[in-house]
Amino acid sequence: MGKGEEINMREKLVCLLIVVFFVFLAVFSYAHEDHDDFGDEIIILEKGRMPQVTFPHQMHQTVLENNCNACHDLFPKQHGIIKEMITQEKLKKQQVMNSNCLKCHKERKAAGQKAGPVKCTQCHVRSK
Ligand code: HEC
Ligand code: HEC
Ligand code: HEC
Repeated sequence: MGKGEEINMREKLVCLLIVVFFVFLAVFSYAHEDHDDFGDEIIILEKGRMPQVTFPHQMHQTVLENNCNACHDLFPKQHGIIKEMITQEKLKKQQVMNSNCLKCHKERKAAGQKAGPVKCTQCHVRSK
């Protein structure tokens, strides 16, 4: 190989590596966007005075036909965010329970649709 060709090969290799890098970056950032992330199937909402709430997240996504905003209008798609927003006084204590969970369950029941529980101990279940 002549000296000129050797340099040419090296330039091609550098170009290839740059392309591979950007393809990798694009795939990586796509995989980390919100639209891919459905969150946990079951979420434990921490207890205070009352026992913990074992919240069937995936079941709600299914029954509400992926209308994420039914809940995530009130709080973002982030683990532990309800507790954090209560601490920051962006949400009142029991606001999610009253204006989201119970509101929907009651409205659906009144409309004769299948609905979730409204009794305290059906959501706040003492762990064994
Ligand atoms: C019936 C209410 C409700 C619906 C509908 C809902 N979520 Fe959530 N989601 C929650 C709650 C509650 C949390 C936990 C918040 C916390 O930990 O403070 C949560 C948390 C999350 C998280 C954070 C990770 C985790 O598992 O804690 C992601 C991601 C998420 N949801 C995605 C979605 C997507 C996508 C949809 C729609 C397809 C959706 N959610 C629909 C209530 C809901
Ligand atoms: C549909 C489910 C559901 C039902 C039914 C329900 N809760 Fe809750 N409750 C929650 C969720 C979710 C939270 C945490 C989010 C918040 O604070 O809004 C919570 C939080 C609370 C809190 C504040 C945290 C704590 O443990 O100290 C109290 C107190 C409470 N609930 C009492 C009650 C009482 C009393 C009843 C019955 C009249 C009841 N809940 C019925 C879901 C429910
Ligand atoms: C927009 C409506 C809606 C909201 C908001 C909602 N739910 Fe429900 N939930 C339902 C429906 C509908 C069902 C009944 C599904 C079924 O029977 O197939 C249900 C069922 C449940 C059940 C019973 C699950 C079982 O295995 O029988 C629990 C527990 C529950 N919801 C807790 C909650 C909590 C906690 C929240 C708030 C963080 C919440 N839900 C918010 C509509 C809602």
